Amino acid sequence: MTEVLAAAADPQERETEGSLRPKTLVEFIGQPELKEHLGIVLQAARERGEPAGHLLVSGPPGLGKTSLAHVVANEMGADIRPTSGPALERAGDLAAILTNLENGDVLFIDEIHRLPRQVEEVLYPAMEDFQLDLVIGKGPSAHTIRLDVPRFTLVGATTRAGLITGPLRSRFELAERLEYYPPIDLEQIVERSARILGVTIDAEGGSEIARRSRGTPRIANRLLRRVRDFAQVRADGAIDGDIARAALEVFRVDEKGLDKVDGAILDALIHRFNGGPVGLSTLAVSVSEEPDTIEDVYEPFLMQLGFIRRTPRGRVATRAAYRHLDVDVPADVGERLFDS
Ligand SMILES: Nc1ncnc2c1ncn2[C@@H]1O[C@H](COP(=O)(O)OP(=O)(O)OP(=O)(O)O)[C@@H](O)[C@H]1O
Ligand SMILES: [Mg+2]
Repeated sequence: MTEVLAAAADPQERETEGSLRPKTLVEFIGQPELKEHLGIVLQAARERGEPAGHLLVSGPPGLGKTSLAHVVANEMGADIRPTSGPALERAGDLAAILTNLENGDVLFIDEIHRLPRQVEEVLYPAMEDFQLDLVIGKGPSAHTIRLDVPRFTLVGATTRAGLITGPLRSRFELAERLEYYPPIDLEQIVERSARILGVTIDAEGGSEIARRSRGTPRIANRLLRRVRDFAQVRADGAIDGDIARAALEVFRVDEKGLDKVDGAILDALIHRFNGGPVGLSTLAVSVSEEPDTIEDVYEPFLMQLGFIRRTPRGRVATRAAYRHLDVDVPADVGERLFDS
């Protein structure tokens, strides 16, 4: 993924991401509906003295999926064992993890949509009956043995809910989607992070950062760190509205939080492809990004802003996108948007 949104790429960020990560439901800001559901489910499980039911969390990068997995473990007083879909290459990899769990542990599988099919099939009976079917031996002498595994809680995370198979999805008790955060929640996140990092920031500075964070806590934290650097080098270290605006201009984050890649996508769509429709892979090549990155990272936010629309024939720029780039809106935009 690109530098802009990829999971904690540089060491400084990995370190602060850990310290800024909310540890309890109360510390987890925003997403009121999800928190209500989770609050009920976790409390009920705690009162019954049982592990919580399996939870699937989906949503774009940086909205708090990994954080939520840790919150679930913390709230249940359980240990968390993190792994990921691509890391579990063979059925045996999953079997080894499952048999080493303790009762009540949280097994966190990130990017669960990338779990190989044969591993997914081992997961089904483990999720449902806490049992593991192991094939012993090869060829005609091969046979299956059934093992009990500890009663664990699976938390699965994915940026691509649409790629989760039906059988897997149906085995989760709760499937929740993280939504982009409104500025008011991001202001609180910036305020909380500033407190933890020991940065002085006023309300205007906070709202300036929040407004340009593309609805994403990870970006809010990242912009806060950049603005903090700027404030330290070019001023006295404290952040106010003017400092935040000046810093974000230097780092080329625009009014809506769009960065260089977003700008390149809109630019290509409007100038090179005449507003579209254009296929995802063609668009991706023209901005030198992976199609997956465009689809997971950039497109959801551009669609949320109403700048891009997906049509059966490809991606199309909207009137708002033309206006954002200060380009005359062609007469037939409407037809292209609704042509299908
Ligand atoms: N609701 C929240 N309240 C406060 N901080 C949050 C919240 N959600 C996320 N954050 C902050 O954003 C950072 C990124 O969140 P997290 O790593 O959980 O995202 P993610 O959805 O797992 O991303 P990815 O898809 O890239 O793995 C966290 O370290 C945390 O500081
Ligand atoms: Mg994550």
